[in-house]
Amino acid sequence: MSKKYEKKISSEKATLTIGDKSFEFPIYGGSTGPDVIDISTLYRDTNMFTYDPGFTSTASCESAITYIDGDKGELLYRGYPIEQLAEKSDFLEVSYLLLNGELPSEAEKSKFTHDITYHTMVHEQLNRFFGGFRRDAHPMAIMCGVIGAMSAFYHDSTDINDPNQRRVASYRLIAKMPTIAAMTYKYSTGQPFVYPRNDLNYAENFLYMTFGVPTCEEYVVNPILADAMDKIFILHADHEQNASTSTVRLAGSSGANPFACIAAGIASLWGPAHGGANEACLKMLYEIGTVENIPKYIAKAKDKNDPFRLMGFGHRVYKNFDPRAKVLQQAAHEVLEELGVNDPMLEVARELERIALEDEYFIEKKLYPNVDFYSGIILKAMGFPTEMFTVLFALARTVGWISQWGEMIKDPKQKIGRPRQLFIGESTRDYIDIGKR
Ligand code: CMC
Repeated sequence: MSKKYEKKISSEKATLTIGDKSFEFPIYGGSTGPDVIDISTLYRDTNMFTYDPGFTSTASCESAITYIDGDKGELLYRGYPIEQLAEKSDFLEVSYLLLNGELPSEAEKSKFTHDITYHTMVHEQLNRFFGGFRRDAHPMAIMCGVIGAMSAFYHDSTDINDPNQRRVASYRLIAKMPTIAAMTYKYSTGQPFVYPRNDLNYAENFLYMTFGVPTCEEYVVNPILADAMDKIFILHADHEQNASTSTVRLAGSSGANPFACIAAGIASLWGPAHGGANEACLKMLYEIGTVENIPKYIAKAKDKNDPFRLMGFGHRVYKNFDPRAKVLQQAAHEVLEELGVNDPMLEVARELERIALEDEYFIEKKLYPNVDFYSGIILKAMGFPTEMFTVLFALARTVGWISQWGEMIKDPKQKIGRPRQLFIGESTRDYIDIGKR
């Protein structure tokens, strides 16, 4: 049973004065972080909407899952610092924590691991979907389609009002994402799909399905790489109300089934400002090419008339080091050393980070490396093509999406998400016949 969390209602009220009228709004406090002003009656009382493009000042829900302190550079899953989880926990334990609110006991962990593990295979007919895609399709395009198509296969877990069906859908998504992600890779290389092996742990099994080949050759999972993979999954598992999570919540607010909602989240994650940044970051490092070229690119990033941005830098919430980037910087060294890879891009990345952190523009705007800055270097060294990077992000984020979706469904105050607008287009005008235009 997860704890019941309640907001605190402040004795103070926020007052809004428009002309000679004043309106009062309740203020709520969370367990930590900024208070919020409840403006849900604003339209009714004032006939006005709030205007907040990009939701920079808007809390869209109550949540007890993940907390970020952007100024301190702190990320907590259910209260536990990400650094501790990355060092001491494993991805399935973190998944249990995100879904249920508490770390599992030994018995709970073993049951959860068993339950997830025994959902890893996908319906055999789902395999045929892949043949409909071009071999050179972007794997995120395939992910959007195939995960959405799960709604057509698992009818017994699409009733969102049944807690057991919600649980089974969550388990299926967490369990089958690695299988489907590995299949997208296999499809692009023309190799046969590899069925899951339930004697391997979550990260090992994913590496096996991705890089192993059926029967002709044994694939032995390197424990250091499996460990780094598991860390990457933990670091990407949730990040409160980011664009893709908010997309999942908004899609789910209409009562859509969880498979369709996660497909919507995958679509949102794909963009280069969000999960696509790791792919874009590695491409950028290659474009920069050498340490000597860095100043030219720093100047481009600072030039208002140039759309170029330093990929893997900056964050809507973090105005300090992204704590995930710190863990990955260390992991990048371990993986490259283990594989004996001498990637000049690591040197370019380190020097770029050093120069940017000393530059007045980046200091003033509080632009620090984010999670995507080092993840690409690790993933490339492990053998993943750049197109797969965002797929791995989606794989790991699925547990966060589904936890947030489940929290929303259980929230008695939940209603369909429906933002309003400041309309600036034409007002009413009469239709003009085509010959008279
Ligand atoms: N390079 C150069 N300038 C930047 C960068 C950057 N990477 N990021 C922000 N700025 C500047 C921006 O030009 C703006 O300057 P000004 O105030 O003079 O107009 C200022 O900093 C604020 O930027 P913003 O776009 O208003 O900030 P935002 O909160 O809307 O955007 C962001 C956040 C992550 C989209 C943005 O920092 C960015 O595009 N970064 C590069 C892409 C990236 O690495 N994304 C991964 C985010 S972490 C993983 C995830 O959560 O998906």
